[in-house]
Amino acid sequence: MPQLFKPSANSAAKVSLLLTAALPVLLISVGSGISRSAANTGVGNRLDQPVPFSHQHHAWELGIDCRYCHTSVEESGYAGLPDTETCMTCHSQIWTNSPLLDPVRKSYETGQPLEWNLVNKVPEFVYFNHSIHIDRGISCNNCHGPVQKMHLTFKGQPFHMVWCLECHREPEKYLYVDEKNPQLTPRQQVFNLYVKFQSDPEGANMSPRERALINGKEQVTTVRDLIERGRKLLEERGINKAQLADCSVCHH
Ligand code: HEC
Ligand code: HEC
Ligand code: HEC
Ligand code: HEC
Ligand code: HEC
Repeated sequence: MPQLFKPSANSAAKVSLLLTAALPVLLISVGSGISRSAANTGVGNRLDQPVPFSHQHHAWELGIDCRYCHTSVEESGYAGLPDTETCMTCHSQIWTNSPLLDPVRKSYETGQPLEWNLVNKVPEFVYFNHSIHIDRGISCNNCHGPVQKMHLTFKGQPFHMVWCLECHREPEKYLYVDEKNPQLTPRQQVFNLYVKFQSDPEGANMSPRERALINGKEQVTTVRDLIERGRKLLEERGINKAQLADCSVCHH
């Protein structure tokens, strides 16, 4: 049933039909990784943007916290994009003559918001929520790649269903732990990783797992004792993985 994976299947009605009718077939198809072909993932793609905004300049070199611009990422399903006022808190004074910033000034004058093109999007019939992931200690980079190194933002992961499920089946393998700052909450650890990297760009004082994560590689634990410890982490962070791979978690 390869036609299941055509874009035309991307409608809420079809999904709910499939949820009841095609469960076994789907599980087999997903298991065999049909939707994983590289051509089909969009990973690495950059999009045209009204302004060539650079995360490397702003998030790493200037050290601006993600939450300064993505203000709702901790509290809501959506991370949100910054409004023009946020840019102008600095750019009414810095780089005021740069032609690259023309669209920003124009937007400020006219009140017409900048129209950013989203690189990350899941289909409408998929429910996603940022706040719960951040709260349990999943790093932004785990899902978005090495954002703090991007000049133009690109897509870091395919966001196919199998990819979500790999973690939902064994989240203990992916939880970020800052060994040197155990007093921080999991969520504080997520943001502190960028602060650490800023003062230690070679990663000399970072663990191998932290170095992998900051470079946008998914951190996966395979060593047995780390997995044991992962189980304890699940408990500490109140993660109930028994139902986390149920269809209804992501498809209401
Ligand atoms: C906290 C201050 C601050 C904020 C907020 C900020 N910027 Fe900047 N931005 C800077 C600084 C400082 C530079 C110069 C960086 C460099 O080149 O090292 C810069 C550089 C730039 C440049 C490159 C300009 C050139 O001519 O090379 C662009 C484009 C830009 N910012 C866009 C934005 C946009 C869009 C926003 C809002 C989403 C924004 N900035 C928010 C401080 C800020
Ligand atoms: C100064 C403001 C600013 C800061 C700080 C900032 N961002 Fe952004 N971010 C933006 C803007 C503007 C966009 C939209 C343009 C683009 O895609 O580059 C964006 C886009 C993104 C996107 C892609 C959204 C999409 O689907 O198109 C991700 C992911 C992201 N930011 C993550 C982060 C992370 C992680 C941090 C902290 C390490 C961070 N951002 C810090 C302004 C900021
Ligand atoms: C578990 C994976 C995951 C983590 C962790 C994650 N994101 Fe996302 N992010 C996504 C997905 C999936 C989307 C697309 C959501 C959609 O289409 O509704 C997205 C979209 C975005 C967008 C586009 C605007 C929006 O709200 O949809 C921004 C900006 C963003 N993420 C920033 C961040 C930042 C900053 C962090 C860390 C504080 C972060 N993300 C952590 C998976 C993740
Ligand atoms: C790296 C690991 C990881 C990835 C990747 C991931 N998740 Fe999650 N997700 C989690 C964890 C951990 C929880 C919290 C579960 C808990 O606390 O019981 C969660 C919770 C959720 C919830 C909320 C469940 C509830 O009970 O409210 C939704 C919805 C969700 N994820 C959707 C997605 C989607 C859609 C994707 C792929 C685009 C995705 N997740 C990718 C780890 C992950
Ligand atoms: C952790 C989140 C998550 C869970 C759990 C989940 N899905 Fe999905 N599902 C997704 C995402 C994300 C997509 C969109 C994939 C894409 O755009 O490539 C998707 C897409 C689909 C599609 C459309 C076909 C496709 O692959 O694009 C069907 C049908 C579907 N899911 C059925 C199911 C069924 C049946 C279950 C339970 C066995 C399930 N899903 C569990 C996240 C999830």
